[in-house]
Amino acid sequence: MSMRGYFGIGVEGITKEANLGNLVRSAHAFGASFFFVIRPQIDVHKVRVSDTSGAFDHMPFHVWESVEDMDLPQGCQLVGIEFMESSVELPSFRHPTRAAYILGPEMGDLSPEVLAKTAHVIKIPMKFCVNVGVAGALTMYDRLISMGKFAERPVKAGGPELLVDNASSPSRPHRRKMRGVKE
Ligand SMILES: C[S@@+](CC[C@H](N)C(=O)[O-])C[C@H]1O[C@@H](n2cnc3c(N)ncnc32)[C@H](O)[C@@H]1O
Repeated sequence: MSMRGYFGIGVEGITKEANLGNLVRSAHAFGASFFFVIRPQIDVHKVRVSDTSGAFDHMPFHVWESVEDMDLPQGCQLVGIEFMESSVELPSFRHPTRAAYILGPEMGDLSPEVLAKTAHVIKIPMKFCVNVGVAGALTMYDRLISMGKFAERPVKAGGPELLVDNASSPSRPHRRKMRGVKE
């Protein structure tokens, strides 16, 4: 899974350990370079202990007690993820090469202080808000499919046409090549 640039993801005012655990695990799986929380309302340590993916051991994790404490890498653009009228719809959004995504708390929205620091605010077009972990995972997946190196989708239903290369050779039983994808 290779992708241009890097990204981090975080959440403001999170109130449920399960949601933080869920988001950190997804961030780890999608290859985030760092994770952060601003003004957490929970014991972050408890989540760390219960995380089975080892995210906390493999990704820098920042806890900032206020928006002013936020210390992003230079040139990293802050992207708010918030369900607002004025937000850019995610399918029409070009992700910054260096980005830090931030989500709001379960029972509220991103604060005006955070919104003032964002370079962009995006929304996932849907009927109503979803769980914060789901919104984070959808955003990371969108980044992956728009910036990752994948074969083009074919016009017909199904996956890209596969050129079987020595498929019957017992020494390389499952080796297959995809058109347009360099190995
Ligand atoms: C469950 S929502 C907050 C509840 C919401 N303000 C309400 O109306 O009850 C928690 C966070 O998830 C994110 N979120 C959920 N659905 C979203 C969507 N469709 N587009 C963008 N962000 C979304 C936002 O960051 C939001 O602050």
